[in-house]
Amino acid sequence: MPATVIVGAQWGDEGKGKIVDLLAQDSDLVCRYQGGPNAGHTIVHDGETFALHHVPSGILAGKLCVVGAGCVVDPGLLVAELDELEGRGVSTTSVRVSGNAHLIMPWHVAIDSASERHLGRLQIGTTRRGIGPAYADKAARIGIRVQDILEPKILRQKFETALAEKNLVLERIHGVPPLEVEELAERMEAYAARLRPYVADTSLLVDHALREGRRVLLEGAQGTLLDLDHGTYPFVTSSSPLAGAAATGVGIGPTRIDRVLGVAKAYVTRVGEGPFPTEIEGPEQARVRELGAEYGTTTGRERRCGWLDLVGLRFAARVNGMTSLALTKLDVLSAFEDVPVCTRYRLPGGSETEEFPAHQSDFHHAEPVYETLPGWLEPLEDAESLADLPAAARAYVAFVEERLGVEVSLISVGAERERVVAPRGLASVAG
Ligand code: IMP
Repeated sequence: MPATVIVGAQWGDEGKGKIVDLLAQDSDLVCRYQGGPNAGHTIVHDGETFALHHVPSGILAGKLCVVGAGCVVDPGLLVAELDELEGRGVSTTSVRVSGNAHLIMPWHVAIDSASERHLGRLQIGTTRRGIGPAYADKAARIGIRVQDILEPKILRQKFETALAEKNLVLERIHGVPPLEVEELAERMEAYAARLRPYVADTSLLVDHALREGRRVLLEGAQGTLLDLDHGTYPFVTSSSPLAGAAATGVGIGPTRIDRVLGVAKAYVTRVGEGPFPTEIEGPEQARVRELGAEYGTTTGRERRCGWLDLVGLRFAARVNGMTSLALTKLDVLSAFEDVPVCTRYRLPGGSETEEFPAHQSDFHHAEPVYETLPGWLEPLEDAESLADLPAAARAYVAFVEERLGVEVSLISVGAERERVVAPRGLASVAG
């Protein structure tokens, strides 16, 4: 059962890092297939906390870790992350970065911030890490790729050509100071020298691993509703976090993927702008935020919090072909006497639907219809099996399974890797 995709089923921050960290113990390879340093995983490993942006969390378990072709890489941030890991005694010799991945250059970061400022109240609320501008240049076929760092002359040439145009954009369109060519070129060359040993043909590497029957995890960043094609456009990221994109993002065929594990919180969070039907009104939102420590790993921003949205989750199950679901942070709901779950949306004309609206205006005006489940008001942290959970918590999980038509194969009840219940055993999740 070699290849399993781990995909965010909401708006990101579902706790994928922790699930990957857990499953990586019994895997051989962990690959990122899209996104860049807009993602952030906080992982508690052997009592130490690590915040990773580029490197897959499998690195802490000493696994081969791949940054696939579908990713965008900020060389300065990647170098800092590698140095930080090495500095804390974690070897990074098993990290491989696809030569086809694109580089996020300083002008991408500058343009991301400048264009958000320009949009004013229409802004997307990006992480300002240069993600959109880097993917835009990739699609326009003027991007600089990781493999360009292997040839200093070519890198320098591409750098100068790009900067001649980008400085005009920065100055004339956005009214911000241009970037200084010499200083930046020197910095890039230093990063290039540090990163050269990590560059590899990662598509071939993953193919070999699969042929040898090794277990491969394909780790998505962000989440389904932030997908460029199927998410809540334009309040989305600029890549495809969906399970289907895992194949193109690492460079294998879709027939090589065996399982798709969706990851969803037992409630919902969203950072940045955009519609959010189940966003909690009133003081309970702040309560969920405090209990769940819902502040961005990458930006430190407060996350908006809402009740579980089964309409969105059903959509995620569909577009990802989810084979099972990991339900995270169930313990956060222990504080609530009643737990509302959105099972339908009421649309502007008054009709109700269980399907995610295909039209943006319907989604923007959708009102959540809730069914309220009794809370359990007991801590869950020490639960080791389904039977250890209070009856009301088990009923909550069963309700989700039944309404979704997807089995819940993992339930997380605390921050550490061990605080996970696997009702049918871990082997059923990733083979
Ligand atoms: P970008 O990916 O930085 O361009 O941001 C686009 C949208 O995706 C914004 O709403 C961000 O807040 C959101 N976003 C990007 N990465 C993440 C993530 O890892 N978790 C949650 N939201 C994210």
